[in-house]
Amino acid sequence: MEPRLGGPVSGDGVPPVDYLSWYIPRLQENRPHDLSQSGFEYDWNLDVDNAKMLGFWESGANPAEWVAERYGVDVDQVCVTHGVCQAISLAILAALPEDGPRVVGVEMPSFAVVSQCARLLGCEVIPFHRGPNPGDWRLNRDELLDILPRVGAIALTPMMNPSGEMMLKEDEDWLIEVTRDAGVNIVSDEVYLDASMGTEFYRPMYLRGENVISVNSLTKCYGLGPLRFGWAIGPAKMIQDVRNAFHNLQGMASAPSMAIAEAAFPRLDEALDALRAAREENLPKLIDVLAENGIVWSPPPIGIYGLIPIETDAVQAMAEHGAPLGLLATPGGMFHKDLSNHLRIAWGGDADAFEAAMPVLSQFLKSIQEESTEA
Ligand SMILES: Cc1ncc(COP(=O)(O)O)c(C=O)c1O
Repeated sequence: MEPRLGGPVSGDGVPPVDYLSWYIPRLQENRPHDLSQSGFEYDWNLDVDNAKMLGFWESGANPAEWVAERYGVDVDQVCVTHGVCQAISLAILAALPEDGPRVVGVEMPSFAVVSQCARLLGCEVIPFHRGPNPGDWRLNRDELLDILPRVGAIALTPMMNPSGEMMLKEDEDWLIEVTRDAGVNIVSDEVYLDASMGTEFYRPMYLRGENVISVNSLTKCYGLGPLRFGWAIGPAKMIQDVRNAFHNLQGMASAPSMAIAEAAFPRLDEALDALRAAREENLPKLIDVLAENGIVWSPPPIGIYGLIPIETDAVQAMAEHGAPLGLLATPGGMFHKDLSNHLRIAWGGDADAFEAAMPVLSQFLKSIQEESTEA
């Protein structure tokens, strides 16, 4: 069920995103103990200008200005998109040199949308790895050096989904240097990165090189996924290419999304404060439950999700033991086959609901252990 890499596709060859085919029906079951949400859940009570819901584009406001101001860049360095899922495709199109190979190197493990989408753009996608090895999430530099001469661009996620682990600073420094030397552009999916704002881990890639487009959105750290409000930031020239791609493929952005985002933008730091507070309150409870069940585990240094090892295949465990308990968490094998005995657990939910889910998680872990002792 890991991302399906390979050559260009169309028609019957367009691959499913196996993770979403698995996840969406289970999400719709509305299980009472949902630890699957890698995004923060924040109770926005937004005051939206109703007249702008459909009339936003006549108001004269420019959403790129809100992003430019927050991230300290010029307005022409920003293109607003419908979420990172859309921004990734547009940024890859802009990052691929006109006369270069239509081959994209994609970091694995990864969220399949990031690593599969270029196949639909007529590209081949080939992997390079960070980990996957709990305890060691270093970049495989030899592998990357090997593919660099063959690719036009690479795509990566500095705060990785599903591990929540940050790319090491020394790997980033090295990456910027070798890609610059090779004339290869980087598309950096920073959808989780703002959780690290204000810490040493906050290193948006657009600040680090002239060959980088960073993409981000209000989905994960700000709890506004349904808005589909995202953006790309990079050098003005590359962002003009992103904008051209956006106009070709999307035309205009949704007016209601822009109107709601306008109300949220001045208050974004409020959501980040609440995210940090949720980590402080919920994470120790998770660590206790894991320890109680003999699982020694170190969480990633920031953020609201991480990957825990279990003794069996996580898809099967969710079906056999999770579903009857009303528990939902995300199997690691959706991101890389070597992570199939891992579960991604998120702790960004409401404190009461999280507390109520802990004995259920404990029961789930005990059922798995009993089963493997019997076997
Ligand atoms: C790495 C990564 N990028 C992007 C997204 C989706 O972002 P958006 O809602 O902005 O399209 C996800 C969602 O799970 C993700 O894990």
